[in-house]
Amino acid sequence: MLQCRGMEPSLAAPALVRQPIAVTRKLAAALPELRAQAQAKGLPIHHLGAGYPHPEVTDPRGHIAHEQAFFEHLRGQEGINDPTALPEFLRECYAYTDTLGPASVRESFAAVYGNDWGLEIDPARLIPTIGATGGIALTCSLFERPGEPVAYITDAPTYAGFLARAALCRNARVYSVDMDGEGPSPDGLRAAIRQARADGFFVPFYYTVPDGHNPAGFSFSAARRQAILDVASTEGVLILEDAPYVYISYAPAEARPKPFFAMDPTRTVHLFTGSKIGLPGPRIGFIYTQAQVSIAGGANAALADLLLAEAAADTLFQNPRALRSFESLLFDEAFNRRDSLWPVAEPKLAVYRQNRSILLDGLHARLGGQPDRFHWTTPEAGFFSVFTFASADVVVNDAFANRLVAEYGVVVVPMYDFHPPDARVRNPRAGYGEARLSFCFTERTGPGRVGDLEAAVAAFADAALALG
Ligand SMILES: Cc1ncc(COP(=O)(O)O)c(C=O)c1O
Repeated sequence: MLQCRGMEPSLAAPALVRQPIAVTRKLAAALPELRAQAQAKGLPIHHLGAGYPHPEVTDPRGHIAHEQAFFEHLRGQEGINDPTALPEFLRECYAYTDTLGPASVRESFAAVYGNDWGLEIDPARLIPTIGATGGIALTCSLFERPGEPVAYITDAPTYAGFLARAALCRNARVYSVDMDGEGPSPDGLRAAIRQARADGFFVPFYYTVPDGHNPAGFSFSAARRQAILDVASTEGVLILEDAPYVYISYAPAEARPKPFFAMDPTRTVHLFTGSKIGLPGPRIGFIYTQAQVSIAGGANAALADLLLAEAAADTLFQNPRALRSFESLLFDEAFNRRDSLWPVAEPKLAVYRQNRSILLDGLHARLGGQPDRFHWTTPEAGFFSVFTFASADVVVNDAFANRLVAEYGVVVVPMYDFHPPDARVRNPRAGYGEARLSFCFTERTGPGRVGDLEAAVAAFADAALALG
């Protein structure tokens, strides 16, 4: 924490507050010391905590080579023979662009993504964002702008990044909905919306991650999605669908439930990100919705137009170079536009599929005989499984997580911090019996990756047997 000791304040800003520090940041800050303690005992560090894409799938060199070839193809398409001439696409890549970014990127993405999810996407309504994080921020900003009390409905537990963004607004309050093995409770969703309204809040949307929920470690069933959509429709709220893991899916194609935006794009605000299917560094994302909103003066407006105005004042210009680079992913080696992003996902999926098997098989082999003590989720998508200690004596708090690192070399993330404050009022133990295990990251690649993850699961299982 930055602090200049012994100095007079340069500014009196009594309205500002210090935001609470997320458990993931606390753990990251404590890690060097804990790592030293573990290493003093000869223990390697086992990563079951970090939610980052695996180094094996984020090596950019293949992508850079393909991107360069794609750029050469674009140059060829412009019919430029003079090697000293500046191609138009390259000039655009380094110039100010529009808030919507280059049209060709949106046209290509609309065609490929629309084909994958069975709906016609209007490229004019695709607004580029700075990853899914940018999409969350843009949507929140739009509804916070009028300055009236606003309530965001979300799951308990929910994505830490969403809670962090919601906490920035003093007028915003989070109302949460408990989940079972299929998703959030439809009755709970309805009750949360009505309670928020009774408390005087405007309720714009319910935020969720239906595929590979982070941190809950499962995907919503198709039936539950329909039930949630029905509640959202009858209550008149939108669904803000965060979809980073739609392509990191382990379900057979015919068993994949539809995302909300494919079920009803007029009820859903969908957040696509390039961070998992492509690379996280370039921060590519798109927001897409066909929702209409009744606004001041009783007029109707396309939500996409309102979001675009917000983006124009906020981001103003997208990064055209990064968007064009992302566009190269949408073209195959012969520079034909792809029909689907699934072939792009497949090499990444191969890594995550194997990692997931190592985690689930390892837990099953080592702890599966004790269902009264331990259980865990089976993720159909994404990076995480939630591990539950059944005994009420086990409290998975920061001290527990620190002990796992110092004594076993195992990094996991406690679940309690992912539960919004109202969830803890309903159940003071919410999340305290659980840890999020991620199977996305190891330090080594290839056979080293397999060895690292197997060792991590073994070390975690030893710790669970000893402490749980
Ligand atoms: C549910 C969820 N939303 C958003 C993000 C961040 O996505 P982006 O990198 O696109 O900002 C993540 C990344 O881990 C995530 O799990």
